[in-house]
Amino acid sequence: MSQHILTAVAWPYANGPRHIGHVSGFGVPSDVFSRYQRMAGNKVLMVSGTDEHGTPIQVQADKEGVSARELADRYNRVIAEDLTGLGLSYDLFTRTTTNNHYAVTQAIFKGLYDNGYIFPKTTMGAISPSTGRTLPDRYIEGTCPICGYDGARGDQCDNCGNQLDPIQLINPRSRINGETPVFTETEHFMLDLPAFADVLGTYLQSKQGEWRPNVLKFALNLLGDLQPRAISRDLDWGVPIPLDGWRDQPNKRLYVWFDAVIGYLSASIEWARRSGDPDAWRQWWQNPDARSYYFMGKDNIVFHAEIWPAMLFGYSGIGARDGSPGALGALDVPSEVVSSEFLTMEGKKFSSSRQVVIYVRDFLERYDADALRYYIAVAGPENQDTDFTWQEFVNRNNGELVAAWGNLVNRSISMAAKNFGTIPEAGELTDADRALLERSRGAFAPVGAELGRSRFKNAITEAFDVVREANKYLAEQEPWKLKDDPERQKSILHVALQVVDDAKTMLTPFLPGSSNKVHAMLGGEGVWSGMPEMHEVDEDGGAPYPVITGDYDGAARWEHQPIKPGTPLAPPVPLFKKLDQKVVDEELGRLAE
Ligand code: MF3
Ligand code: ZN
Repeated sequence: MSQHILTAVAWPYANGPRHIGHVSGFGVPSDVFSRYQRMAGNKVLMVSGTDEHGTPIQVQADKEGVSARELADRYNRVIAEDLTGLGLSYDLFTRTTTNNHYAVTQAIFKGLYDNGYIFPKTTMGAISPSTGRTLPDRYIEGTCPICGYDGARGDQCDNCGNQLDPIQLINPRSRINGETPVFTETEHFMLDLPAFADVLGTYLQSKQGEWRPNVLKFALNLLGDLQPRAISRDLDWGVPIPLDGWRDQPNKRLYVWFDAVIGYLSASIEWARRSGDPDAWRQWWQNPDARSYYFMGKDNIVFHAEIWPAMLFGYSGIGARDGSPGALGALDVPSEVVSSEFLTMEGKKFSSSRQVVIYVRDFLERYDADALRYYIAVAGPENQDTDFTWQEFVNRNNGELVAAWGNLVNRSISMAAKNFGTIPEAGELTDADRALLERSRGAFAPVGAELGRSRFKNAITEAFDVVREANKYLAEQEPWKLKDDPERQKSILHVALQVVDDAKTMLTPFLPGSSNKVHAMLGGEGVWSGMPEMHEVDEDGGAPYPVITGDYDGAARWEHQPIKPGTPLAPPVPLFKKLDQKVVDEELGRLAE
């Protein structure tokens, strides 16, 4: 049965180029998942965009000496290019600075406000005297009042672990420019999280056994201490608050996280409008049979497993104060929050300022997208923090992609192309032939089941086992020695090509670019698995900006398809580049000591 599946991918901040740690969390996993679901016959809507508001953007803009808008424009484009280069199959990758996003964000605010889940409150806020802007808690540093540690931050002390309020810090100073913040009274809007304690509890409990254990445990822990949370900031960069008396205040904006999570909905609505059926988004958001999967790194769990569901419940009129659905109608909460752990780089935390980094752009200039996608799928931070090393990258590239998969494709296709020119017919099959064919065909169900549950490591390992067994089969059957027995040679190569075809299908979600090449080499026609494209669009005649979209309805289906004897074979081109060992030293040399 075909299902509507929303793949909601975390929105990268447009405050700099993204590195491979970022895309290992949200990018590659969400794309592998979406490609699999499309192949399984489901209707996937994969949306995201650049997250362009808030302090992260403002602070970097100040550093680069440009306006927040200029900075967002610059990195929106850079990030869209990089994600396209990785082959990530967004149905729409947009941005949070569109009119549509502002309107949808304000509509969600209004719905929550009308139901009584948002209320105003006077608080003491830290302001930077030189800029007049709010200093967020984590940008304030000082001495911990509890343990005396001098590097405590406004939100917590990393030395004793206690949660802090910035106003408690002794000798507070700005981490941006060192000045002393001033604390003044300021009015903010709060999201009443405690009003959702019960519904969130029931919701999360129902996910036992379904979500990754780390994610669910973390989310359930948060329930113990639900506090109202400020969803506005003293800032001039962001979505205005849609209430009389607030709308025109130049220094009050919605908190970046409040608007960013709404992006999943606004991007779905924008996609529907661009596709010519403005109500189409409802099939993913207001449909009891639809499922939604949210992909991110673990630092985003609180926003996706607690705050976003609370916002959706409250907007729909579900919570301690009840209420009625807002103008868009009741909205579905996430079916699953799929979070990755962190990737480190040669044993260190990624850090752009300390040059412990490899940006997606630089990576793609030197290596293939599929090589990175493979590494992340097989050795990424799916269930625990994981270290990226250049040595492991080279080893896996050469040992697994080139020597195992590339070599299997290459030897079976080139031998068949040279000797017969077309896919040969099989004669009578031996036990060994049948065993391999069954092994390969039988892998679709288990590999698919792992993919459907976002167990990518298991899935790719199982698919690669088929590749390894096919190589073993060729080594045992030695078809190259059978010049005098062309019938047997044909059978062996037929079996090998069938398994190459199966493996190409099973590897498509992970390695779409190389599977497309194998499809063509086996004489396949048309598009196998669609690739993303960047388009320039504008809104109401404004400046053009890039979006990622694509037509992903290729021929790829999650099933064994019998190859057709007589199909012409193209002489194979190498699938992957073998990397020289000196790559490791070069790359290590690029990292700062
Ligand atoms: N920009 C955030 C980050 O990079 C992620 C935002 S995800 C969304 O950590 F939910 F807000 F969309
Ligand atoms: Zn302390």
